Amino acid sequence: MENQEPEYAQILELTRQLVRKRQQASSFQAGQDPVPYAGRVYDEREVEAGVRSMLDFWLTLGPEGDALERSLATALGVRSSHLVNSGSSANLVAVSALTSHSLGARRLCPGDEVITVAAGFPTTVSPIIQNRAVPVFIDNDPSTGNARVEQLEDAFVPGKTKAVFMAHTLGNPFDLAAVTDFCQRHDLWLIEDNCDALGSLYDGRPTGSFGDLSTQSFYPPHHITMGEGGAVNIVRNARLKVLVESFRDWGRDCWCASGCDDTCGKRFGWQLGELPEGYDHKYIYTHLGYNLKPTDPQAAIGRVQLEKLATFVSARSSNWNTLRRNLADLEEHVDFMLPTHATGWSEAGFSWQPGSPEVDPSWFGFMMVVKENAPFSRTGLANALDQHKIGNRMLFGGNLVRQPALVRLRREYEKNPAAGAQPPFRVVGDLTGADRLMNQAIFVGVYPGLNDEQLTFMSDCIRQACHGQSVAKTVV
Ligand SMILES: Cc1ncc(COP(=O)(O)O)c(C=O)c1O
Repeated sequence: MENQEPEYAQILELTRQLVRKRQQASSFQAGQDPVPYAGRVYDEREVEAGVRSMLDFWLTLGPEGDALERSLATALGVRSSHLVNSGSSANLVAVSALTSHSLGARRLCPGDEVITVAAGFPTTVSPIIQNRAVPVFIDNDPSTGNARVEQLEDAFVPGKTKAVFMAHTLGNPFDLAAVTDFCQRHDLWLIEDNCDALGSLYDGRPTGSFGDLSTQSFYPPHHITMGEGGAVNIVRNARLKVLVESFRDWGRDCWCASGCDDTCGKRFGWQLGELPEGYDHKYIYTHLGYNLKPTDPQAAIGRVQLEKLATFVSARSSNWNTLRRNLADLEEHVDFMLPTHATGWSEAGFSWQPGSPEVDPSWFGFMMVVKENAPFSRTGLANALDQHKIGNRMLFGGNLVRQPALVRLRREYEKNPAAGAQPPFRVVGDLTGADRLMNQAIFVGVYPGLNDEQLTFMSDCIRQACHGQSVAKTVV
C-alpha cells in the first residue's frame, strides 16, 4: 500500500525537483568539458526509487531485489537471476558453483581445465584460478575481439577440460553456434560472461541465455547500473540455482530468503555432516561460500534502469553507427571492430558470412585497432584524445597472460615446480591476436549519455589525430 505520511510524499517530491534542477542541460563546451567513455544515465525516477527504498529501510536484499531478479530473468529469457554485488562476484559465484560436490563427475575439481580467451577482463579468469582450476587460453580474433573458435578443439583435453568461460567482448556476441556445439559434444559447462553485453542478440535470442550460467555487471559504465552490482543467471538447470544461492549466501544449505524461516518445512529436521540431528538448517553450510549480496536500495535503482534497457541499447547502437559512418575514411589506418560473423561494413550496413546466424550487438564501446603501418600509434591516439578530454580505454587487461599477476604465477611455477604440481595456466598457440589487441586496440564510448555534438567532436578529434601532426608516433 502506498505510504500516506505527508512527509514521505514531500521528500519524494523534493527529490524529483532537485534531480530535475541538477539535470538541466548545460551546453557542451568542446575541448573544455570531458566526454566520458561511459557513465550513469538516469533521471529522477532512479533517485526517487533509491530514496523510497531508503525510507522503507529494508536495506538487505529484499522486495526490490526479488522484483529485479524476476524482471531480469524475464528480459533474458532464463530460468532465474540472482543479484550479487558486482560482475566480478557474479563470475566468482558462477565458477564456484561448478565446484560443488553435488555435481558428481561433472564437478570442477582442482587441476581441471577451463577454456577461456586471452585478451579481456581479468575477473573472467581469476575465479578459475581462485578455485584451483587451470585456465587454458585460446586466442582472440582481433577483428571481432572474440575467441578464435577454431582453437577450441586444440585446447580440449579429454577428462580434464570441464568448462568454457568467455566474455562477449564489448557487447559483441561470440560465436555461440560453434561454442555451444563444442560444449554439447564434449559435455562441458558453458559460462557466458555477459557483463558487457546486456541486450545483445545472437540468432534472435539474448546473449546470456545460451550457456548453463551467465553473468552481468551493473557497475556504472555498463548497460544498466545499480552502482556496484551484478547478477548470475541460471539458464535452465534448477540444480545450479541452489548452488549459486549457496555460494552467494555464506555457503549455506538452507534456501530461505533473508528474513524468512523454515521455507523447507523442516528447519530442525536435518542431520548433515557430523552435526547433531535437528541442528538449525539456517546454520548448516554445505559449501565454503561467501556473502556477495547487494542491498535493496541498489536493486530499486536497478529496476528503473532495467525498464530503460531497450532505449539504452538503441542509443548505444545509434551512437556506434554514427561513429562508424563518421570515421569511414580512416580505414586505411584503422581496423574497426566487426560483429562476429560479419565480413565487412558499408554505409548500407554489415555484410555477413553466408548462412550465419544473425548477430545484433548491444555495444559497450567503439573499438578501433590501429594498423601496424599507420603513421601514428595506438598510444599516440590515446594521448591525443586525452588532450581533448575524450575518454578512451584499452581492451581492459589486454593479453592477460602478460599481466604481472599471471607472469608471477608462471615464474614461481617455473622456478620451483613442486613434484606433480600443475602449471598455473596453459596457452594454446601463440596468442598473436590477443597481443595485437593489447598493442593496437583502443575504444571510445557509445553510452546513451553522449549527444550528437559530442559524437561529432569525438569523430573530428579522432580524424585529426589520425591525419594530423599533433599525434607523434610513440613506441609502445
Ligand atoms: C567482461 C567483464 N567481466 C566482468 C567484469 C567485472 O564487473 P565488475 O566491475 O562489476 O566487477 C567486467 C568489468 O567491466 C567486464 O568487462
